[in-house]
Amino acid sequence: MAPDGDIVITGGAGFLGANLAVALAERRPGARIVAFDNLARRGSELNLPRLREAGVRFVHGDVREPGDLLALGPVAQLVECSAEPSIMAGVTSAPDYLVRTNLLGAYHCLELARRDEAQLVFLSTSRVYPVPRLREVVLEEDTTRFRIAPEQRLPGVSAAGISESFPLHGARTLYGATKLSAELLVEEYRESYGLSACVLRFGVVAGPWQMGRVDQGVFAYWALAHAFGRPLRYFGFGGSGRQVRDLLHVEDAAELIDEVLRGPSIWDGVIANVGGGPEVSLSLAEATSLCEEISGRRGLVQGQSEERPGDVPLYISDTARLQGVTAWRPGRSARQTIEDIFAWIADNEDIARSIG
Ligand SMILES: NC(=O)c1ccc[n+]([C@@H]2O[C@H](COP(=O)([O-])OP(=O)(O)OC[C@H]3O[C@@H](n4cnc5c(N)ncnc54)[C@H](O)[C@@H]3O)[C@@H](O)[C@H]2O)c1
Repeated sequence: MAPDGDIVITGGAGFLGANLAVALAERRPGARIVAFDNLARRGSELNLPRLREAGVRFVHGDVREPGDLLALGPVAQLVECSAEPSIMAGVTSAPDYLVRTNLLGAYHCLELARRDEAQLVFLSTSRVYPVPRLREVVLEEDTTRFRIAPEQRLPGVSAAGISESFPLHGARTLYGATKLSAELLVEEYRESYGLSACVLRFGVVAGPWQMGRVDQGVFAYWALAHAFGRPLRYFGFGGSGRQVRDLLHVEDAAELIDEVLRGPSIWDGVIANVGGGPEVSLSLAEATSLCEEISGRRGLVQGQSEERPGDVPLYISDTARLQGVTAWRPGRSARQTIEDIFAWIADNEDIARSIG
């Protein structure tokens, strides 16, 4: 590892990347942090003033272009946060951008890390788990949410959520497929080139500065709609909003990645689920209640039975493996995460109004 190299965050103007860059800059005065991004995501450009104020150097570049990455100076650590993160990508559009950014881009990041013997932290996703298998998880239903039933047919499912031993055979959306393919490359680079790398499979991450859209960043999207009185719909699963996700505050995510960057040898080879787990989870109906309480706006949501491709009724991260590596635990509740999103909207109304 180049000891005096930069900490490079690809996708560094995005939601996770920019929040991480700012958090690292605050925690490590004097560290040289580079945010590399092609600003493809609408709204990422709104993070540029924050990055500048935090002393993070912004480099406009594209992970699809190896030359853009290899033009960077010596890199000590690389956090790969760039992506086309929508599960609808390749469904409502051609797969070209998705595959070339998420898979080829990850390969180019691996090549940069190999050049400088840099530590690589790869941000992966719960979407690596196949949709048909997740739909086989046996659920119970109560008034506000689905719950994982005690008896299950598949391995890797329990009241704690979905673990890394959940089956990996089956389709998982093109997005999930590109991320799992990139994970396999990470593993091969460790084996073949001795690269120090770890893979973090995040469930839903949420918080301030998320440019929430209907297909990505659902809790920010929900809060933005309530803040500005926009209509919402529960898609599928009976149309009553019982679908559940665990969520992790972006500050909690940044704290974990900071820890990973401080202990490369501890984290080398770790592939682990990361999320709020059952304790920090919400159904959409519960998110609506919270948003209604905070905003004072009611009645925006309508049900619709039509399902979206790739959607699942429940995903909760079983983080037992992660907990075996670190004492880190999510520190912020689901309520606090939603409240923080509303506080950010109130402080940045013009920016927030332009999103969605
Ligand atoms: N937000 C979540 O809930 C979540 C959950 C699981 C995994 N992840 C993963 O975390 C990472 C970051 O996600 P996010 O939520 O911050 O998404 P985001 O869309 O906010 O950020 C991604 C950034 O990558 C940039 N980008 C896209 N194509 C690029 C390219 N070709 N070259 C350079 N930059 C490019 C975008 O402009 C954007 O700023 C992704 O790898 C995603 O798969 C996110």
